[in-house]
Amino acid sequence: VKKIILDCDPGHDDAIAMLLAHGNPEIELLAVTTVVGNQTLEKVTRNALAVARVINLTGVPFAAGATRPLVRQVEIADEIHGDSGLDGPVLPEAAITLEPVHAIDLIIDLIMSHPPKTITLVPTGGLTNIAMAVRKEPRIAERVKEVVLMGGGYHVGNWSAVAEFNIKIDPEAAHIVFNEKWPLTMVGLDLTHQALATPEVAARIAAVGTQPAKFVGELLEFFGLSYKDRQGFDSPPVHDPCAVAYVIDPNVMTVRKVPIDIELTGMLTLGMTVADFRAPPPPNCHTQVAVKLDHQRFWDLIVDALERIGEV
Ligand code: BDR
Ligand code: CA
Repeated sequence: VKKIILDCDPGHDDAIAMLLAHGNPEIELLAVTTVVGNQTLEKVTRNALAVARVINLTGVPFAAGATRPLVRQVEIADEIHGDSGLDGPVLPEAAITLEPVHAIDLIIDLIMSHPPKTITLVPTGGLTNIAMAVRKEPRIAERVKEVVLMGGGYHVGNWSAVAEFNIKIDPEAAHIVFNEKWPLTMVGLDLTHQALATPEVAARIAAVGTQPAKFVGELLEFFGLSYKDRQGFDSPPVHDPCAVAYVIDPNVMTVRKVPIDIELTGMLTLGMTVADFRAPPPPNCHTQVAVKLDHQRFWDLIVDALERIGEV
């Protein structure tokens, strides 16, 4: 079983990442932490708690984190995720309450109180919380097992020509996280643009027939319209659960080791994840990028998680 902390900004695809982490038996979800991103911290946190209720996720601590990026002003993605950050389905009232601690302290406490190299960090939003945590307690860098994040892209962007949203909204935080020496897997747009929720996928999810499955169907419907209108996609790329899927089963995608750094000064390239493919990776290379997704296997995992969660 793989222990993870999910640091997220729900967000339609973050909600599906939560569901996969909860419903898959290979994953032990130690905590869910939230960070400003797709919407304000207040909204994404409320969404996280609402999703927990929909999928019957209990007994896992939730904590809220950063209200703004380290240096930049807040930049939200309401054009993709709507005014609530999770437009589409009706959101229930929360049934659980937040831990009375900051997300970065929950992250640090969990990592420092577990045996070394047993916890994987899975960030699916901006990297503000993770950067703050490793600055506050640098020992977590050698103590975590690995970082598997959704963000970036080595040949394409979505929030600019070359930068992806999660990196672009807090590039300084991303710079910190990519330069720590922990093993880091970047599940970026190169990979997640293959995780399309096609009509066949939507039909499989609908066929599960439960309330959580209906909720996911409604999420994908709204998300699909956003991606069609704003980004010209026929079917929406469901980014965030790809990072969870890699932790569950590394065979669901191929990866390639490559040094990566974050552009902090480019006028046109701020927040670009610059991957250097010129030579074979040096022996001390601690970063890798996800390359090719097994689409069938990925969606099998999501459907399987929904079936295990069942009716709530
Ligand atoms: C990322 O940006 C957010 O809008 C999504 O939740 C995902 O984490 C994709 O660029
Ligand atoms: Ca996200």
